[in-house]
Amino acid sequence: MAASMSMSAAHFTDKMSDEHAGLMDRVYRHQRHLYDFTRKYYLFGRDGLIRDLRLAPSERLIEIGCGTARNLIAIAQAQPKARLFGLDASAAMLETAERHIRRAGLSHRITLAQGLAEQLSPAAFGQEGFENALFSYSLSMIPDWRGALVAAHAALMPQGRLHIVDFGDLAGLPPAARRLLEAWLARFHVTPRTELLAEIEGHAREGDRLRLLPGRYAFTFCEQQM
Ligand SMILES: C[S@@+](CC[C@H](N)C(=O)[O-])C[C@H]1O[C@@H](n2cnc3c(N)ncnc32)[C@H](O)[C@@H]1O
Repeated sequence: MAASMSMSAAHFTDKMSDEHAGLMDRVYRHQRHLYDFTRKYYLFGRDGLIRDLRLAPSERLIEIGCGTARNLIAIAQAQPKARLFGLDASAAMLETAERHIRRAGLSHRITLAQGLAEQLSPAAFGQEGFENALFSYSLSMIPDWRGALVAAHAALMPQGRLHIVDFGDLAGLPPAARRLLEAWLARFHVTPRTELLAEIEGHAREGDRLRLLPGRYAFTFCEQQM
C-alpha cells in the first residue's frame, strides 16, 4: 500500500495549508463543544480499536487529526506507560483538546501540536519517530489522504504500526440510507475513502488486521511497517 501512496503524494503550499486549517476551524468552531457527545452516535469502531491496541511500556503513539483528544485520553488511561502525541490542523479543536487533557490530569503524558497531516514531522514533537500512528476518522477529512499516509509511514520507526478507523464504502447499507449519510457527511467535508478500503482489501483479508463493521459502515485496520 505504501508504494502506491507515495506516487500520488501532493505538495502543499503555505496558502493551501492556511486555507485548510481555516476551513477546519470554521467547521469546528461551534461543533467542538458538542463534538464528543454527538459523535459517539456515528463514529463507530473507535473504542474497539483502542481496546485492541497493545502498546509496550514507553512506546510512542501519535494521533493524526486528534480532534478533541477523546481518543488520546482513553489511550492514556488504558496504557499508563505509553507516550502520546496529537496533531491537528484546527487550532480551535486543539484548544478544546488541551482543556480536556488538563481536566483529565494528563498534560504531562500528551503533547499536542498544530499542523497538517500531509506535513507531519516527528521533529516538531522533539522525536525521531513514533512506534504507532493512528488515524481515527481523519483520513475522510484530509484532502490529500494519500500524502498523509506517506507522511505517517515516514514518521514511523522500523516495525512501527499504522492504525486506521474510518468510514467504509457503505456498500452494505440500503441505497437510500447510504445517499442520506453521504449527503450528511458532505456537509461536514467528510468523504468516505472508498479507494483506500479497496486497496486494503486487495492485500489484507478480513480478520485480525482488517475488520468491517455491519453494512461496511466503517472499518478498522492495523499494518506493521517492514
Ligand atoms: C472527524 S474529526 C476526528 C477527531 C478524532 N480523531 C476522533 O476520532 O474523534 C477529524 C479531525 O481531523 C482534523 N483534520 C482535518 N484535516 C486535517 C489535516 N489535513 N491535517 C491534520 N488534521 C486534520 C480536523 O481538524 C478534525 O479535528
